Amino acid sequence: MVKRKIVLAYSGGLDTSVAIPWLAEKYDAQVVTVTVDVGQGRDLEAIRQKALQTGAVRAVVVDGRETFVREFVWPALQAGAIYEEQYPLATALSRPLLARYLVEAALQEEAWAVAHGCTGKGNDQVRFDVGVQALTPHLRVIAPAREWGMSRDEEKTYAQKRGIPIPQEQGRHTYSVDENLWGRAIEGEDLEDPWREPPEDAYAWTVPVHKAPAEPTYLEIEFQEGVPRALNGEELSGVALINQLNSLAGEQGVGRIDHLENRLVGIKSREVYEAPAGVVLHAAHRALETLTLGKEQQRLRALFAQQYADLVYNGLWYSAFREDLDAFVRSTQRFVSGTVRVRLHKGSCTVVGRRSPYSLYQFGLATYGKGDQFDHMAAEGFIKIYGLPVRIQSQTQQKKV
Ligand code: ARG
Repeated sequence: MVKRKIVLAYSGGLDTSVAIPWLAEKYDAQVVTVTVDVGQGRDLEAIRQKALQTGAVRAVVVDGRETFVREFVWPALQAGAIYEEQYPLATALSRPLLARYLVEAALQEEAWAVAHGCTGKGNDQVRFDVGVQALTPHLRVIAPAREWGMSRDEEKTYAQKRGIPIPQEQGRHTYSVDENLWGRAIEGEDLEDPWREPPEDAYAWTVPVHKAPAEPTYLEIEFQEGVPRALNGEELSGVALINQLNSLAGEQGVGRIDHLENRLVGIKSREVYEAPAGVVLHAAHRALETLTLGKEQQRLRALFAQQYADLVYNGLWYSAFREDLDAFVRSTQRFVSGTVRVRLHKGSCTVVGRRSPYSLYQFGLATYGKGDQFDHMAAEGFIKIYGLPVRIQSQTQQKKV
Protein backbone atom coordinates (compact mmCIF):
# COMPACT_ATOMS: atom_id res chain seq x y z
CA MET A 1 0.00 0.00 0.00
CA VAL A 2 1.28 3.50 -0.80
CA LYS A 3 1.91 5.55 2.26
CA ARG A 4 0.03 8.80 2.77
CA LYS A 5 2.02 12.00 2.43
CA ILE A 6 2.59 14.90 4.78
CA VAL A 7 4.03 18.19 3.52
CA LEU A 8 6.18 19.87 6.16
CA ALA A 9 7.28 23.52 6.27
CA TYR A 10 10.99 23.03 6.79
CA SER A 11 13.51 25.58 8.09
CA GLY A 12 16.46 23.28 8.65
CA GLY A 13 16.47 23.94 12.40
CA LEU A 14 16.24 21.37 15.18
CA ASP A 15 12.44 21.32 15.59
CA THR A 16 11.57 20.81 11.94
CA SER A 17 14.43 18.32 11.48
CA VAL A 18 13.21 16.19 14.36
CA ALA A 19 9.72 16.49 12.90
CA ILE A 20 10.70 14.56 9.74
CA PRO A 21 11.29 11.15 11.36
CA TRP A 22 8.70 11.86 14.05
CA LEU A 23 5.94 12.44 11.48
CA ALA A 24 7.05 9.49 9.37
CA GLU A 25 6.91 7.16 12.39
CA LYS A 26 3.88 8.53 14.20
CA TYR A 27 1.65 8.79 11.13
CA ASP A 28 3.28 6.06 9.05
CA ALA A 29 3.72 8.62 6.31
CA GLN A 30 6.11 9.91 3.68
CA VAL A 31 7.35 13.40 4.43
CA VAL A 32 7.86 16.02 1.72
CA THR A 33 9.51 19.25 2.88
CA VAL A 34 8.97 22.77 1.57
CA THR A 35 11.47 25.52 2.33
CA VAL A 36 10.62 29.03 1.21
CA ASP A 37 13.25 31.67 0.56
CA VAL A 38 11.89 34.85 2.11
CA GLY A 39 15.35 36.35 2.38
CA GLN A 40 16.47 34.56 5.54
CA GLY A 41 19.97 34.46 4.11
CA ARG A 42 20.56 30.75 4.64
CA ASP A 43 22.16 28.21 2.31
CA LEU A 44 18.95 26.71 1.01
CA GLU A 45 20.60 23.95 -0.99
CA ALA A 46 22.30 22.74 2.20
CA ILE A 47 18.92 22.83 3.95
CA ARG A 48 17.39 20.82 1.11
CA GLN A 49 20.13 18.19 1.39
CA LYS A 50 19.67 18.04 5.14
CA ALA A 51 15.95 17.35 4.69
CA LEU A 52 16.72 14.45 2.36
CA GLN A 53 19.38 13.04 4.67
CA THR A 54 16.95 13.27 7.57
CA GLY A 55 14.41 11.14 5.72
CA ALA A 56 12.29 13.38 3.52
CA VAL A 57 11.23 11.66 0.28
CA ARG A 58 11.29 14.97 -1.55
CA ALA A 59 12.59 18.38 -0.58
CA VAL A 60 11.34 21.47 -2.37
CA VAL A 61 12.86 24.95 -2.20
CA VAL A 62 10.92 27.95 -3.54
CA ASP A 63 12.06 31.51 -4.01
CA GLY A 64 9.26 33.52 -2.46
CA ARG A 65 11.11 36.82 -2.08
CA GLU A 66 9.51 38.95 -4.79
CA THR A 67 6.06 37.62 -4.00
CA PHE A 68 6.62 38.24 -0.31
CA VAL A 69 7.51 41.87 -0.94
CA ARG A 70 4.86 42.58 -3.57
CA GLU A 71 1.88 40.85 -2.00
CA PHE A 72 2.58 41.10 1.72
CA VAL A 73 5.25 43.64 2.67
CA TRP A 74 4.15 46.52 0.41
CA PRO A 75 0.44 46.31 1.29
CA ALA A 76 1.37 46.30 4.98
CA LEU A 77 3.67 49.29 4.46
CA GLN A 78 0.97 51.16 2.54
CA ALA A 79 -1.41 50.42 5.40
CA GLY A 80 1.12 51.70 7.95
CA ALA A 81 0.79 48.40 9.79
CA ILE A 82 3.01 48.35 12.87
CA TYR A 83 1.90 46.10 15.72
CA GLU A 84 1.53 47.98 19.01
CA GLU A 85 3.40 50.87 17.45
CA GLN A 86 6.64 48.92 17.50
CA TYR A 87 6.79 45.74 15.46
CA PRO A 88 6.73 45.97 11.64
CA LEU A 89 5.40 42.39 11.47
CA ALA A 90 8.18 40.62 9.54
CA THR A 91 7.46 37.14 10.88
CA ALA A 92 3.71 37.63 10.91
CA LEU A 93 3.63 38.69 7.25
CA SER A 94 5.67 35.71 6.07
CA ARG A 95 3.39 33.07 7.59
CA PRO A 96 0.43 33.39 5.22
CA LEU A 97 2.83 33.15 2.28
CA LEU A 98 4.42 29.99 3.73
CA ALA A 99 0.93 28.60 4.30
CA ARG A 100 0.14 29.22 0.64
CA TYR A 101 3.25 27.42 -0.64
CA LEU A 102 2.56 24.60 1.79
CA VAL A 103 -0.98 24.19 0.49
CA GLU A 104 0.17 24.36 -3.15
CA ALA A 105 2.71 21.60 -2.54
CA ALA A 106 0.15 19.53 -0.65
CA LEU A 107 -2.30 19.69 -3.55
CA GLN A 108 0.42 18.80 -6.03
CA GLU A 109 1.62 15.87 -3.92
CA GLU A 110 -1.95 14.82 -3.13
CA ALA A 111 -0.95 14.95 0.49
CA TRP A 112 -3.19 14.03 3.38
CA ALA A 113 -1.87 16.68 5.74
CA VAL A 114 0.51 19.60 6.12
CA ALA A 115 2.76 20.21 9.11
CA HIS A 116 4.77 23.02 10.69
CA GLY A 117 7.26 23.33 13.52
CA CYS A 118 5.44 25.86 15.70
CA THR A 119 4.94 25.31 19.40
CA GLY A 120 1.66 25.73 21.25
CA LYS A 121 2.66 29.03 22.90
CA GLY A 122 3.20 31.33 19.98
CA ASN A 123 1.34 33.27 17.35
CA ASP A 124 2.83 31.43 14.42
CA GLN A 125 0.81 28.25 14.95
CA VAL A 126 -2.35 30.33 14.66
CA ARG A 127 -1.16 32.01 11.46
CA PHE A 128 -0.29 28.69 9.84
CA ASP A 129 -3.37 26.80 10.98
CA VAL A 130 -5.84 29.54 10.10
CA GLY A 131 -4.04 30.25 6.82
CA VAL A 132 -4.19 26.63 5.72
CA GLN A 133 -7.81 26.28 6.84
CA ALA A 134 -8.77 29.37 4.87
CA LEU A 135 -7.06 28.14 1.70
CA THR A 136 -8.07 24.47 1.84
CA PRO A 137 -10.63 23.55 4.47
CA HIS A 138 -10.16 19.81 3.90
CA LEU A 139 -6.43 19.62 4.70
CA ARG A 140 -5.32 18.45 8.12
CA VAL A 141 -2.70 20.53 9.92
CA ILE A 142 -0.25 18.80 12.24
CA ALA A 143 2.05 20.64 14.62
CA PRO A 144 4.48 18.02 15.97
CA ALA A 145 6.10 20.38 18.49
CA ARG A 146 2.63 20.96 19.97
CA GLU A 147 2.09 17.21 20.38
CA TRP A 148 5.34 15.47 21.13
CA GLY A 149 5.92 16.81 24.61
CA MET A 150 9.72 16.66 24.32
CA SER A 151 11.93 19.18 26.07
CA ARG A 152 14.79 20.79 24.14
CA ASP A 153 17.23 18.24 25.58
CA GLU A 154 14.97 15.31 24.80
CA GLU A 155 14.69 16.59 21.26
CA LYS A 156 18.48 16.62 21.01
CA THR A 157 18.67 13.03 22.25
CA TYR A 158 15.97 12.05 19.75
CA ALA A 159 17.97 13.76 16.99
CA GLN A 160 21.24 12.10 18.04
CA LYS A 161 19.64 8.65 17.99
CA ARG A 162 18.54 9.19 14.42
CA GLY A 163 21.76 10.75 13.25
CA ILE A 164 20.27 14.19 12.70
CA PRO A 165 22.99 16.84 12.87
CA ILE A 166 22.31 19.26 15.72
CA PRO A 167 22.89 22.92 14.78
CA GLN A 168 26.15 24.17 16.28
CA GLU A 169 25.51 26.81 18.89
CA GLN A 170 27.45 29.95 18.23
CA GLY A 171 28.32 32.55 20.82
CA ARG A 172 27.18 32.68 24.39
CA HIS A 173 23.46 32.53 23.78
CA THR A 174 21.17 30.36 21.72
CA TYR A 175 18.30 32.64 20.88
CA SER A 176 15.25 31.61 18.98
CA VAL A 177 15.52 33.60 15.77
CA ASP A 178 13.21 34.07 12.82
CA GLU A 179 14.46 36.01 9.83
CA ASN A 180 13.26 37.31 6.53
CA LEU A 181 14.10 40.38 4.50
CA TRP A 182 11.56 42.54 6.33
CA GLY A 183 13.13 41.84 9.70
CA ARG A 184 14.66 39.63 12.31
CA ALA A 185 12.90 38.45 15.48
CA ILE A 186 14.96 37.35 18.48
CA GLU A 187 13.56 35.63 21.55
CA GLY A 188 14.64 33.66 24.58
CA GLU A 189 17.66 33.45 26.88
CA ASP A 190 18.45 36.76 28.64
CA LEU A 191 15.69 38.50 26.71
CA GLU A 192 13.12 36.69 28.86
CA ASP A 193 13.95 39.14 31.66
CA PRO A 194 12.24 42.37 30.59
CA TRP A 195 14.42 44.40 32.95
CA ARG A 196 17.61 43.25 31.31
CA GLU A 197 19.07 45.19 28.41
CA PRO A 198 19.39 42.94 25.34
CA PRO A 199 22.94 41.59 25.11
CA GLU A 200 24.85 42.80 22.07
CA ASP A 201 24.99 39.26 20.64
CA ALA A 202 21.22 39.33 20.13
CA TYR A 203 21.77 41.68 17.19
CA ALA A 204 23.10 40.74 13.79
CA TRP A 205 21.90 43.36 11.32
CA THR A 206 22.54 46.57 13.26
CA VAL A 207 25.61 48.04 14.93
CA PRO A 208 25.51 49.55 18.42
CA VAL A 209 25.35 53.34 18.37
CA HIS A 210 28.93 53.73 19.61
CA LYS A 211 30.16 51.83 16.55
CA ALA A 212 28.10 53.85 14.08
CA PRO A 213 30.06 56.27 11.89
CA ALA A 214 30.54 59.89 12.93
CA GLU A 215 28.97 61.09 9.67
CA PRO A 216 25.25 60.73 8.94
CA THR A 217 23.88 58.93 5.90
CA TYR A 218 21.37 60.83 3.77
CA LEU A 219 18.95 58.89 1.61
CA GLU A 220 16.27 59.79 -0.89
CA ILE A 221 13.44 57.32 -1.20
CA GLU A 222 10.97 57.64 -4.02
CA PHE A 223 7.45 56.29 -3.69
CA GLN A 224 4.78 55.63 -6.25
CA GLU A 225 1.28 55.22 -4.84
CA GLY A 226 2.72 54.31 -1.48
CA VAL A 227 5.22 51.77 -2.81
CA PRO A 228 8.97 52.48 -2.69
CA ARG A 229 10.42 52.43 -6.19
CA ALA A 230 13.86 54.02 -6.05
CA LEU A 231 16.69 54.69 -3.66
CA ASN A 232 18.93 57.72 -4.26
CA GLY A 233 17.53 58.03 -7.77
CA GLU A 234 18.15 54.42 -8.71
CA GLU A 235 15.13 52.30 -9.57
CA LEU A 236 15.27 48.99 -7.75
CA SER A 237 13.21 45.85 -7.36
CA GLY A 238 11.47 45.57 -4.01
CA VAL A 239 13.87 42.88 -2.80
CA ALA A 240 16.98 44.86 -3.79
CA LEU A 241 15.65 48.08 -2.28
CA ILE A 242 14.90 46.43 1.06
CA ASN A 243 18.26 44.63 1.13
CA GLN A 244 20.16 47.85 0.42
CA LEU A 245 18.22 49.75 3.04
CA ASN A 246 18.80 47.03 5.60
CA SER A 247 22.53 47.38 5.23
CA LEU A 248 22.62 51.21 4.93
CA ALA A 249 20.41 51.72 7.97
CA GLY A 250 21.90 48.81 9.91
CA GLU A 251 25.35 50.39 9.57
CA GLN A 252 23.97 53.49 11.27
CA GLY A 253 22.49 51.43 14.10
CA VAL A 254 18.94 52.13 12.91
CA GLY A 255 16.22 49.50 13.33
CA ARG A 256 16.57 48.00 16.82
CA ILE A 257 13.27 47.41 18.57
CA ASP A 258 12.78 46.21 22.15
CA HIS A 259 9.12 45.40 22.62
CA LEU A 260 7.04 43.94 25.38
CA GLU A 261 4.36 42.39 23.27
CA ASN A 262 0.82 41.08 23.70
CA ARG A 263 0.60 37.72 21.99
CA LEU A 264 -2.65 36.42 20.59
CA VAL A 265 -2.55 33.45 22.99
CA GLY A 266 -2.71 35.79 25.98
CA ILE A 267 0.95 35.82 26.97
CA LYS A 268 3.02 38.96 27.33
CA SER A 269 6.46 38.37 25.93
CA ARG A 270 9.64 40.37 25.46
CA GLU A 271 10.53 40.46 21.79
CA VAL A 272 13.56 42.03 20.24
CA TYR A 273 13.56 42.89 16.56
CA GLU A 274 15.86 44.29 13.95
CA ALA A 275 14.08 45.93 11.05
CA PRO A 276 16.32 48.64 9.57
CA ALA A 277 14.51 48.88 6.23
CA GLY A 278 11.11 48.59 7.90
CA VAL A 279 11.79 51.43 10.32
CA VAL A 280 13.09 53.74 7.59
CA LEU A 281 10.37 52.95 5.07
CA HIS A 282 7.51 53.34 7.55
CA ALA A 283 8.91 56.71 8.66
CA ALA A 284 9.36 57.88 5.07
CA HIS A 285 5.97 56.61 3.96
CA ARG A 286 4.21 58.30 6.87
CA ALA A 287 6.01 61.54 6.04
CA LEU A 288 4.84 61.41 2.44
CA GLU A 289 1.27 60.81 3.60
CA THR A 290 1.37 63.91 5.78
CA LEU A 291 2.10 65.85 2.58
CA THR A 292 -0.41 64.18 0.26
CA LEU A 293 -3.40 63.11 2.37
CA GLY A 294 -6.09 65.39 3.73
CA LYS A 295 -6.55 65.69 7.47
CA GLU A 296 -9.59 63.41 7.71
CA GLN A 297 -7.94 60.83 5.45
CA GLN A 298 -4.95 60.82 7.78
CA ARG A 299 -7.12 60.41 10.87
CA LEU A 300 -9.10 57.49 9.47
CA ARG A 301 -6.02 55.91 8.00
CA ALA A 302 -4.40 55.82 11.44
CA LEU A 303 -7.35 53.85 12.81
CA PHE A 304 -7.18 51.44 9.90
CA ALA A 305 -3.44 51.00 10.35
CA GLN A 306 -4.01 49.58 13.79
CA GLN A 307 -6.78 47.30 12.56
CA TYR A 308 -4.53 46.13 9.77
CA ALA A 309 -1.61 45.43 12.10
CA ASP A 310 -3.82 43.48 14.52
CA LEU A 311 -5.28 41.45 11.69
CA VAL A 312 -1.86 40.50 10.31
CA TYR A 313 -0.51 39.75 13.76
CA ASN A 314 -3.54 37.64 14.62
CA GLY A 315 -3.27 35.42 11.56
CA LEU A 316 -6.30 36.67 9.62
CA TRP A 317 -4.57 37.48 6.34
CA TYR A 318 -6.88 35.32 4.23
CA SER A 319 -10.05 37.02 5.36
CA ALA A 320 -12.69 39.17 3.75
CA PHE A 321 -11.86 41.81 6.35
CA ARG A 322 -8.34 42.13 5.00
CA GLU A 323 -9.65 42.53 1.48
CA ASP A 324 -11.93 45.32 2.68
CA LEU A 325 -9.10 47.06 4.49
CA ASP A 326 -6.89 46.68 1.42
CA ALA A 327 -9.51 48.34 -0.74
CA PHE A 328 -9.56 51.33 1.58
CA VAL A 329 -5.78 51.46 1.80
CA ARG A 330 -5.38 51.26 -1.97
CA SER A 331 -7.73 54.16 -2.38
CA THR A 332 -5.78 56.28 0.12
CA GLN A 333 -2.54 55.63 -1.74
CA ARG A 334 -3.60 57.06 -5.11
CA PHE A 335 -1.61 60.27 -4.57
CA VAL A 336 1.06 59.04 -2.16
CA SER A 337 3.80 59.53 -4.73
CA GLY A 338 6.92 61.59 -4.33
CA THR A 339 10.29 61.63 -2.62
CA VAL A 340 11.32 61.65 1.02
CA ARG A 341 14.77 62.54 2.30
CA VAL A 342 15.91 60.90 5.52
CA ARG A 343 18.97 61.30 7.68
CA LEU A 344 20.30 58.20 9.42
CA HIS A 345 22.69 58.87 12.23
CA LYS A 346 23.78 57.04 15.37
CA GLY A 347 20.67 54.90 15.64
CA SER A 348 18.16 57.55 14.66
CA CYS A 349 16.16 57.92 11.48
CA THR A 350 14.86 61.43 10.86
CA VAL A 351 12.81 62.66 7.95
CA VAL A 352 14.37 65.94 6.82
CA GLY A 353 12.62 66.60 3.51
CA ARG A 354 9.60 65.61 1.45
CA ARG A 355 8.19 66.60 -1.94
CA SER A 356 5.42 65.40 -4.24
CA PRO A 357 3.66 66.48 -7.42
CA TYR A 358 0.45 65.96 -5.42
CA SER A 359 1.58 67.92 -2.39
CA LEU A 360 -1.24 69.62 -0.50
CA TYR A 361 1.24 72.00 1.09
CA GLN A 362 0.96 75.47 -0.42
CA PHE A 363 3.74 77.88 0.25
CA GLY A 364 1.53 80.90 -0.38
CA LEU A 365 -0.86 79.79 2.37
CA ALA A 366 1.75 78.70 4.90
CA THR A 367 4.37 81.41 4.66
CA TYR A 368 4.80 84.22 7.18
CA GLY A 369 7.14 85.92 4.75
CA LYS A 370 6.60 87.70 1.45
CA GLY A 371 4.11 86.15 -0.95
CA ASP A 372 1.50 85.41 1.71
CA GLN A 373 -1.82 84.70 -0.02
CA PHE A 374 -3.90 83.70 2.96
CA ASP A 375 -6.94 85.91 3.53
CA HIS A 376 -6.35 87.06 7.11
CA MET A 377 -9.62 88.97 7.33
CA ALA A 378 -11.61 85.85 6.38
CA ALA A 379 -10.32 84.20 9.55
CA GLU A 380 -12.43 86.52 11.69
CA GLY A 381 -15.72 85.40 10.16
CA PHE A 382 -14.66 81.78 10.26
CA ILE A 383 -13.89 81.97 13.97
CA LYS A 384 -17.19 83.74 14.69
CA ILE A 385 -19.20 80.85 13.27
CA TYR A 386 -16.81 78.15 14.44
CA GLY A 387 -16.92 79.37 18.05
CA LEU A 388 -20.68 80.01 18.02
CA PRO A 389 -21.84 76.85 19.85
CA VAL A 390 -19.15 77.21 22.50
CA ARG A 391 -20.15 80.82 23.08
CA ILE A 392 -23.82 79.98 23.46
CA GLN A 393 -23.23 77.06 25.78
CA SER A 394 -20.88 79.08 27.89
CA GLN A 395 -23.38 81.94 28.21
CA THR A 396 -26.38 79.81 29.09
CA GLN A 397 -24.90 76.94 31.11
CA GLN A 398 -21.48 77.78 32.38
CA LYS A 399 -21.85 81.48 33.07
CA LYS A 400 -18.20 82.33 32.68
CA VAL A 401 -17.16 85.79 33.94
N1 ARG B 1 6.66 37.65 18.24
C1 ARG B 1 6.82 37.69 16.83
C2 ARG B 1 5.54 37.32 16.14
O1 ARG B 1 4.70 36.72 16.72
C3 ARG B 1 7.98 36.93 16.31
C4 ARG B 1 7.99 35.45 16.51
C5 ARG B 1 9.25 34.93 15.88
N2 ARG B 1 9.63 33.62 16.21
C6 ARG B 1 10.84 33.29 16.72
N3 ARG B 1 11.15 32.05 16.79
N4 ARG B 1 11.69 34.19 17.15
O2 ARG B 1 5.35 37.67 15.00
